[in-house]
Amino acid sequence: MRQPLVAGNWKMNGSLDSVTSLIEGIKAGLGSVTTAEMVVCPPYVYIPGVAGLIGDAAISLGAQDVSDQESGAYTGEVAPGMLTDVGCKYAIVGHSERRSIYGESDEFTASKFAAARKAGLVPILCVGEQLEEREQGITEDVVARQLDAVINLEGVAALADAVIAYEPVWAIGTGKTATPQQAQDVHAFIRGKLAALDSSVADKVRILYGGSMNAGNAAELLAMADIDGGLIGGASLKPADFLAIGTAANS
Ligand code: 13P
Repeated sequence: MRQPLVAGNWKMNGSLDSVTSLIEGIKAGLGSVTTAEMVVCPPYVYIPGVAGLIGDAAISLGAQDVSDQESGAYTGEVAPGMLTDVGCKYAIVGHSERRSIYGESDEFTASKFAAARKAGLVPILCVGEQLEEREQGITEDVVARQLDAVINLEGVAALADAVIAYEPVWAIGTGKTATPQQAQDVHAFIRGKLAALDSSVADKVRILYGGSMNAGNAAELLAMADIDGGLIGGASLKPADFLAIGTAANS
């Protein structure tokens, strides 16, 4: 059985005050989450503080991005080893906002994936198509290309302990969610593609859905066979909503 994973990607939101109340709010309601692993991904600067606020509560920490380099003259970058140093377990790589706003390629994303793994982080690899790509009927080609960059660099076995997040770009921050069937179809495609290479990797890898997942639609998405959790943006900034998504994964 794959343990469900519900991860909050806070993006570039928050302040010392708001992240404190957000973590306190999540901790207060955590008893209602029985099955899912809950993860928060704060902006880099708040990670050490959030680690302290979490204390020994059952909330894992992740970063929203990571450098592909280990150390050195890379101004502005944060190394994977620094993230493990301050208590991170996960690092998101290849989020669509990194790909589209900052021009990060499939290959660059794959090198971040590799660097994260090498340092002992669990990468959360984001994949997903733009609206025009869906309309052209090339969703599977796009997702396959994004996955292949990682498989070619690291081998399929590297994905067994990693997490994949399917985030259709047209559903991110738009309030427009993929229907459970639309999401399930792509998740099944991803798992099937991996199964063709290694069935044990396909059985093990957790595939999250991301894109306007919220307290109201989480249960029906999480009920689909190949949806193992969620990568949540906006709704992860409200403790009650984030917890409701976590409890929707209770089994
Ligand atoms: P929203 O939940 O705000 O649509 O964001 C999804 C996302 O990009 C998570 O990484």
